[in-house]
Amino acid sequence: MHAELDDKHLERAVIAENAVRISAGLEDAEDLISDLERSLNTAATEICGVSAEDIDAVAALEAVAFPREKAATREAFEYRIANFGEYFFAARHNGKIVGIIDGAPSNRKYIMDDLYKADGEFDKDGETLLIYGLAVHPDYREGGIAERLMNALLEYAARNSKKRAALTTEKELIGFYEKLGYKNHGISSSTIGNTVEFDLEQTL
Ligand SMILES: CC(C)(COP(=O)(O)OP(=O)(O)OC[C@H]1O[C@@H](n2cnc3c(N)ncnc32)[C@H](O)[C@@H]1OP(=O)(O)O)[C@@H](O)C(=O)NCCC(=O)NCCS
Repeated sequence: MHAELDDKHLERAVIAENAVRISAGLEDAEDLISDLERSLNTAATEICGVSAEDIDAVAALEAVAFPREKAATREAFEYRIANFGEYFFAARHNGKIVGIIDGAPSNRKYIMDDLYKADGEFDKDGETLLIYGLAVHPDYREGGIAERLMNALLEYAARNSKKRAALTTEKELIGFYEKLGYKNHGISSSTIGNTVEFDLEQTL
């Protein structure tokens, strides 16, 4: 924003340092207001950890974001938060959970369906971070929250001696994960939700 102006010229043009410039074309006023509201809300979210108190909110968001056959159960969230909750992050807006990401430390290379069970195997000393879920509430999407959640989790994992991160996804989201640094390793053994899934991986 006005990046080309130095302090003297900004002052002369009466543009404060914290001013935000919005360029809008001839659009419907309600669309503009709703776009602006969405941008301000996503910008105001904070990434933080979760605790057992958040389980209801986490399960409710999961149910909004995934079809029933793919959504993790409340029991699975209880188990994950109790056993390796340090690999679970949430995006909050005014205290409300609007995005989640969670994973497990593991010595396996890729996710297999047995790991999604409510008591799936994990290994705190394993060198891999398996990412089980990433979801953002529909009202908060397209504002970079998923990317911020992913960065927070990967930074934590790297600081805690994890060497690689792996996840599975459907074909439609491969491009999304490639932008976040993942490489596609082909069709996964996972068939969760009766869909064809792909194994994606990145080195940390
Ligand atoms: C996928 C999901 C987590 C993305 O959340 P988000 O907060 O909107 O993502 P971001 O704003 O960080 O998006 C980052 C980029 O990915 C792109 N993107 C988002 N959703 C996408 C999709 N479905 N397909 C392709 N690209 C997508 C965005 O356009 C953005 O690109 P840009 O940086 O070039 O503008 C969200 O759509 C969601 O919760 N979906 C339902 C649950 C799901 O499918 N989770 C993934 C399971 S593997």
